[in-house]
Amino acid sequence: MAGKILAANWKMNTIPADGVALVSEILNQWPDNHRAHTIICPPFTHLAFIAELLKNKPSFSLGAQNCHHEKKGAFTGGISVDMLKDLGVEYVIIGHSERRHIFHESEKDITSKVQRVIQAGMHVIFCCGELLKYRKQGLETSIVESQLKSSLGALSDTEMKQVTIAYEPVWAIGTGETASPQQAQNMHKTIRHWISKQWNNDIADKCSILYGGSVKPGNAKALFMQTDVNGGLIGGASLNAQDFKAIYHAMI
Ligand code: 13P
Repeated sequence: MAGKILAANWKMNTIPADGVALVSEILNQWPDNHRAHTIICPPFTHLAFIAELLKNKPSFSLGAQNCHHEKKGAFTGGISVDMLKDLGVEYVIIGHSERRHIFHESEKDITSKVQRVIQAGMHVIFCCGELLKYRKQGLETSIVESQLKSSLGALSDTEMKQVTIAYEPVWAIGTGETASPQQAQNMHKTIRHWISKQWNNDIADKCSILYGGSVKPGNAKALFMQTDVNGGLIGGASLNAQDFKAIYHAMI
């Protein structure tokens, strides 16, 4: 059975003081149970401060939104996985559609980053999802499968256990338009089936597959009720403690 995960992707929002206040507010009112795991992925500049707040909180983890694919060296502005790990980061989001489309990251870049994070013993939150034009042509499954195959296909059984998948249809990100629960379930089922073919049923059953794209308190429950939706990767609504908490309650 895949674990339930709620992950917050703050993107390029808040300054560190706001981020600390937001996490403090979230922690103050979080239910005291371990039925699900919560991952906070703030901007790089916030990580050290938020790591302090999440110390001794076993149901919370710190995540980063990106990393450099090389281990170290002359890469001005780059952030290595060792730097992240040293700060207490356990998860790194790789392959987010904003990195693919705005920063023009290639499949090769994304694959290298996945491998770098895995080699460091950390977890990857691997994002996949189709553009609207491909869904309109009925090509969403082949697009998502090709993203998965290209960046995860070469991983061993053990390495694949370090991967959480987030299905984020690009047309649903930040648009207010969400995939219907049935559209999400269909794609998540396809992804799980692909994992079982590529590795085995056990790995597929235990892989958490999150949905992301305009998840809000009002639509979260219907999405999370789907058999193969094991949680969410939340953008805008994770910047509001009340909304984020409501989404968590819809999941557990
Ligand atoms: P929104 O929840 O703002 O649509 O963002 C989703 C997302 O991109 C999470 O990574």
